[in-house]
Amino acid sequence: MILRVGLLGVCLFPVLSFGQSLSSLFPTSAHITNISVPFEVTSSTAVELVKVDFVSNQAQCKSLVDPHFKQVFHIRCKAAGSVVFKATYIRNGRVEAVTSPSLAFTAPAGGVISDPGGGGTDPSIAQGQALFSTNCMACHSPTSLRGSSASRIQSNINSVSQMSFLRSMSAEDVSKIAAFLGSL
Ligand code: HEC
Repeated sequence: MILRVGLLGVCLFPVLSFGQSLSSLFPTSAHITNISVPFEVTSSTAVELVKVDFVSNQAQCKSLVDPHFKQVFHIRCKAAGSVVFKATYIRNGRVEAVTSPSLAFTAPAGGVISDPGGGGTDPSIAQGQALFSTNCMACHSPTSLRGSSASRIQSNINSVSQMSFLRSMSAEDVSKIAAFLGSL
């Protein structure tokens, strides 16, 4: 199995001994300090996260296990710096853990998410990613909505009662979220 973390582009890390992998759900190399970055422990069998600890934490990150998706957790960091985290989870009734490689978080200039690896990245995508993190992540993982169009999002905002609080969202913001989901 391969440990894949997408924060610095798609980097491949060495094989892990216990057959689990850890992946960032954000596919770009965006460096984010002020919005939460989701990670997922992927496994062929069901996994339930217990906690995420930091082995080192220069970036002053906090972690939160997603209340809806038990294999997903979010990290939100306050500063630039590197972090190593360890996710502890239960699989087949046994407690196991996976440790990340060292991940560098860089501060976005002026609060705008930068994409140091990118070149030509549409700023709407980065803004859509931030909007998704704030407004949608509590209930959806980005990959589960991959490719959703703006009209599909809007029609669900109009029809799904749990999403009714989003009715004040502008069409522009909805289309930025669609741009982000389309980039996955
Ligand atoms: C409070 C929970 C909640 C939040 C927050 C939320 N949704 Fe939903 N969403 C739902 C529920 C419930 C459904 C309907 C059941 C389903 O399809 O999962 C749904 C359905 C959807 C669907 C249709 C799913 C499909 O199969 O195509 C889309 C698209 C969607 N939401 C997008 C969003 C976007 C984008 C945001 C943020 C702007 C968002 N949702 C925020 C709860 C939520």
